[in-house]
Amino acid sequence: SGMAVGVDVGGTKVIAGVVGERGETVSIARRGTPGRSVDARHLEDTIVEVVQEVSGGRPMLGVGIAAAGFVDVTRERVMFAPHLPWRGEPVRERLQERLGAPVVLDNDANCAALAEATYGAGQGADPMLMITLGTGIGGAVVLRGEVMRGAHGMAGEFGHMRVVPDGRPCQCGRSGCWEQYCSGNALERYVRSRIGVDSTILVDACDGNPDTLTGPMVTAAADEGDLVAREAFRVVGEQLGLGVANLVAALDPEVVVVGGGLSAAGDRLLEPGRIALARALVGSGHRVVPPLVGAALGPEAGVVGAAELVRQRVAQARR
Ligand code: BGC
Ligand code: NA
Ligand code: ZN
Repeated sequence: SGMAVGVDVGGTKVIAGVVGERGETVSIARRGTPGRSVDARHLEDTIVEVVQEVSGGRPMLGVGIAAAGFVDVTRERVMFAPHLPWRGEPVRERLQERLGAPVVLDNDANCAALAEATYGAGQGADPMLMITLGTGIGGAVVLRGEVMRGAHGMAGEFGHMRVVPDGRPCQCGRSGCWEQYCSGNALERYVRSRIGVDSTILVDACDGNPDTLTGPMVTAAADEGDLVAREAFRVVGEQLGLGVANLVAALDPEVVVVGGGLSAAGDRLLEPGRIALARALVGSGHRVVPPLVGAALGPEAGVVGAAELVRQRVAQARR
């Protein structure tokens, strides 16, 4: 017995939560992610710290790790992660030794998809397409109740589909990736490049230093009528709809669920996304355009899904 803990290890934040039996987050703790150029051990230290904080030393059923990277098919290692220092490390075993509780590992968007399919906006939908918008773009497809893994565990890396030839450089080492045009980073980059006469509210929010701008500041400024902040959501939302239209052409999902930190912006982002999706989707007018909805579990879906992995593992062991 004990509690199920989920940890979302993203490019900007590490979020740990104790999650109850109906997918509810009981308590939560956060840390900044140490940059991608630090030693992998340093990131693991941060994970251990945040788990200790949220668990308060009480017994744990296990810890699920939702990692923002490419997890191998045995779910032992993170093979590659554009925004994190892991390059093939046996993350599951390492953390299990340090945490003294069973550890289960999966990709962060796969975890969010599991949570939304089990408790959230994807219940009963088949297939369900999940997109997470944070530092980068995460993706997953749930088909007949199972997250599609691919031959090597790496299906769903939609953020690195090239959408612009010779486009912006990406942290993955290539260029023109979708996540360079549609993510928390893309939103911040847009406002930083346009901030000025039309954005007095944003200028005030960051005390005149655009480098300190964050997603939540952009959301607040958009609500107060800042024109640059509003335009940023329209531009990023449009990129969301265009990319989703390609995925819908390929997969014909019943619903498209959008999670990740940026999904906190809700319809500011989703509404321009819906318009672009309906316009860009092949056969639009002669087919069902799937609903584009926000994650019901919000930006914490990854944490909930990681904890759900722990419960599934325990249930399997009992069988
Ligand atoms: C990574 C994915 C991850 C996503 C969201 C991407 O850059 O390649 O593995 O799911 O970011 O964190
Ligand atoms: Na994925
Ligand atoms: Zn990339």
